[in-house]
Amino acid sequence: MLSYEKIFSLLLAVLLSSPILQAQVRSAVSLEKGWKFHKGEIPGAESNSIDDANWEQVVVPHDWAIKGPFDKEIDKQVTAIEQNGEKIPTEKTGRTGSLPYIGVGWYRLVLPEVDVNNKKATLVFDGAMSDAQVYINGQKVGSWAYGYNSFHFDITPYLHDHGQNLLAVRLENKGLSSRWYPGAGIYRPVNLVLSNPSGVKTWGMFVKTPIANADYARINIRTELEGVRNKNLKIITTITDQSGRIVAQRKGDFDHVQEIVEDNIDITKPKRWSPEDPFLYSAKIEIYENDRLLDMDSTRFGIRDVQINAKGGFMLNGKSRKLKGVCLHHDLGPLGAALNKAALRRQLQIMKDMGADAIRTAHNMPSPWQMDLCDELGLMVIAESFDEWKYAKVKNGYNRLYDEWVEKDLVNLIRRHRNHPSIVMWSIGNEVPEQRSADGGRMVKLLQDICHREDPTRLVTVGMDRVDNAIANGFAAVLDVPGLNYRTHLYETAYGKLPQGFILGSETASTVSSRGVYKFPAIEGKEVKYDDGQSSSYDLESCSWSNLPEDDWILQDDKSWVIGEFVWTGFDYLGEPTPYDGYWPSRSSYFGICDLAGLPKDRYYLYKSRWDTVESTLHILPHWTWDGKDGDTIPVYCYSSYPEAELFVNGVSQGKRRKDPLSRLDRYRLRWNDVVYQPGTIKVVAYDAQGEVAESKTVHTASKPTTIYLKADKTELDADGNDLAFVTVEIRDEEGNLCPHADLPLRFEVEGAGIFKAVCNGDATSLEMFHEPKMNAFNGKLVVLVQSVETSGTINLKVKGPNLNTASIRMTAR
Ligand code: GAL
Repeated sequence: MLSYEKIFSLLLAVLLSSPILQAQVRSAVSLEKGWKFHKGEIPGAESNSIDDANWEQVVVPHDWAIKGPFDKEIDKQVTAIEQNGEKIPTEKTGRTGSLPYIGVGWYRLVLPEVDVNNKKATLVFDGAMSDAQVYINGQKVGSWAYGYNSFHFDITPYLHDHGQNLLAVRLENKGLSSRWYPGAGIYRPVNLVLSNPSGVKTWGMFVKTPIANADYARINIRTELEGVRNKNLKIITTITDQSGRIVAQRKGDFDHVQEIVEDNIDITKPKRWSPEDPFLYSAKIEIYENDRLLDMDSTRFGIRDVQINAKGGFMLNGKSRKLKGVCLHHDLGPLGAALNKAALRRQLQIMKDMGADAIRTAHNMPSPWQMDLCDELGLMVIAESFDEWKYAKVKNGYNRLYDEWVEKDLVNLIRRHRNHPSIVMWSIGNEVPEQRSADGGRMVKLLQDICHREDPTRLVTVGMDRVDNAIANGFAAVLDVPGLNYRTHLYETAYGKLPQGFILGSETASTVSSRGVYKFPAIEGKEVKYDDGQSSSYDLESCSWSNLPEDDWILQDDKSWVIGEFVWTGFDYLGEPTPYDGYWPSRSSYFGICDLAGLPKDRYYLYKSRWDTVESTLHILPHWTWDGKDGDTIPVYCYSSYPEAELFVNGVSQGKRRKDPLSRLDRYRLRWNDVVYQPGTIKVVAYDAQGEVAESKTVHTASKPTTIYLKADKTELDADGNDLAFVTVEIRDEEGNLCPHADLPLRFEVEGAGIFKAVCNGDATSLEMFHEPKMNAFNGKLVVLVQSVETSGTINLKVKGPNLNTASIRMTAR
C-alpha cells in the first residue's frame, strides 16, 4: 500500500508536470545543505567580507549542542523549583540536559541562484533556537525571538539581481531560559519560496469545514491575497482527495478583489478524518488575471467535526470519546532537537501502536513536520504555545518576550498550523504563574480572544496546576476547556465550581521509572531515590504533585465529565531528571512511557492494555534473572487487556488474579505480590471475559550472554541522506533469552550506502555521547540509528561486544 506521504509526493509530481506549474508561479526549495556554522560570537559575521572557510560545514536541521559533552557545570543551579513545591534552594544539575546549548551561534549559507526578476522571495523558518537575527548580504532582514515558532521574511528587496546572495543567521540562547533541554541552532527546516509579487500571502489559505456530516460537508476556503487590489480575477478552486481524484471544482470571476477571497464548496458523502481513518483532502487555489496565472497555492486539510461540551464531552464526528493522549517534549533523544522526519514518524507510530490517539506538544509550538505526520498517522493534537507568560518560572524564559511578542507568536502559530485536521485544540499555556495573579483572568481572556479571532473553529485550553487559585481569580472559568495538570483530588471541586461542565486531564500521571530496573520491595512511594539514580519499573513511584496511571483512569471511568488525559510523558526527554535533579550524572527524564531511545518501559503495556482496543495485551514483569535472590520475594505483575490470569513458577500455580474494580491498584493490574524467586520459568495464562484460556506468555531465567540480536524498525530506507533506521540491539543468551543485566560495551560499524548516526541506551545517568559509535547496553538493550546517504545500495550494520558473537543486519537504501 502506498503511504500518504508517497501519494502526496506523487500528487505533487503530477501537479508539477501540469502546464500551470510549468509557468513556475510558486516554488519552494528546502535549504538543507551547504551551511557553515560557527559557535561563538563574531562581530560582523553577517557581512559578505567575512571569511568562513574554516567554519564547520553542517546540514540543517542542526543542533549545535547535542554532541556535548555533558557537563554538570553547564546548568548547575542552586534553586528551589517552585513548580515542584520546593521552598529551600538546593543544588540542581541536569535540568536542561547538561548539554552546551547556551551562547551565540552563527550560520551562513550562499543561497541557490534565483531569478528574482518580477518575483517575490520569502524565507520560511520552521523554528530556530533562539533569538534569530536574519541577514541577507549583510543587511538585517528581521528577527524572531521565540525559538519554537515558525516565521517568515520577504527577502526580495535585499537580494542582488545577479551573483551570489548570502544568508546569515545569528542565534543566541541565554542560560536559565528553559525548564528542559531546548536544543540550539537552526533545528527545524528552512525553505526559500519563490512566487509572483501578486498572489496568495504566506500561510494565507484557511480551510474550514463548518459542516462535516456523514452525508455532506461544506468546505470554506478563505484566502488572503496581496498585490491584487481592484483587479478582475478568475479564481479556480479545486478539491482533491488523497488519491488525487478531483472531488469538486469551482471557477469564479471576482471583480474588485480586496485582500480576501472566500468560497464555499459542498461535497456529498465526505470521508471524515479521524485517528482510525485519517483521510486527507487537498485544496488548491489558482488565481488568473486575464488568463494569466498569477499564483497558485494549496494546502492539505481534513473534514471533521470537533465539539466539546457538557453534554457530550469531547466529540469527534458526533461521537463522544475520551482523549487517550501523551505529552511529548520536542527533542528526539540522541538526535537532540535537530528535527528528522523518520525519527518523528517512529516516535508517533510507537505512541499510536500503544493505542494513543492524541498528543500534546508540551510546552511549545510544534514543528510543521510533526503536524503533517499527525494528520497522516491519525493523532489528535493539542498544539501548545508557552510555558510562561509575563511572570517568570526561569529568569530568562518567555517572560522577557511576553509584552512584545505574545500576540505575534500566537498569530504565527495559528496561521502556520490552522489547516491541520489533527489539531483539535490550542493551548495558550502550561502552569503559568498568572493562575494565581489578580490579573490572571484578564490575561487568559486576552490570549484566548486572539486565538478565537485567528481561528474561530477551535477551543482553547491551559494546563493548570494552581487549581484553587485559578478558580478563585476567574482564570479557570474563562477558559473554553479547563485543563487540570495532576491534582486528581481537585477534579470534583473544579467540576463543581466551574461553568464548563467538563474537565480535561491536560497533564496526568508523571509516574517515574527506568527501563528494566526493579527495586524491592515493590511499594508505592513519592520522590523515591536510590543510590544508582534509577527509578523502579513496578510503576509505583511518582512525584509529590503527581500520581499513578490508575488515579487518572478511575476518574475517567467513574466520571462521565472527565474528557480524557495527556500522560506526562510518551517518551523520556533530555533535561528535568526528577526525582534526581540533585544527583549527578542524571541528565534526562524518568517520566517517559518509553525511554530516551524509544524502547518501551513496562508502563507502555499498562497503557496499551487499556488504550489498544484492537490488539490484546499480555505483559509480565519483572524479568526472571535474579542471581543470588533464590528464596527472596519477587512480586510479579501482569499488564493485560484480559480480566483474569493465572501465574505459574516452574509449573506451580501461584493462583489466579482478577481485576478488582473496588481496589485502586488491582483494578487495572494483575499482581502476585508474594512470589518466591527460583530460577526457571514464569508463565502467565490469561482468561477472557467468558473464562476461557485466551493467551499465555513465558519468561525464562537467562544464562550467560553470548549473542547479539538485532532488529530494525525498517530495512528499506529512502536514499535521501535523511532517512533513518532504528535498530534495537539486545544481548541474549544461547537460547535467545534477553540478558537483563548485560550492560556490556558495544561497538558499531556501518558499511555501504549509509552512516552510523547515533546510539542511545535509555540510561538517564549515562554520560556517553550519542554520536560516538560505542556505548554500553543498558539492562541488555540499546538502539542504534543508521542514516541513509544519497546513493542507493545495501547498508550493513555490524555490532560487536566482548565475548559476544558479532552480529550484523543488512538494509537497503533506494
Ligand atoms: C508539570 C509540568 C511539566 C513537568 C512535569 C513533571 O507540572 O507541567 O513541564 O515539569 O510537571 O512532573
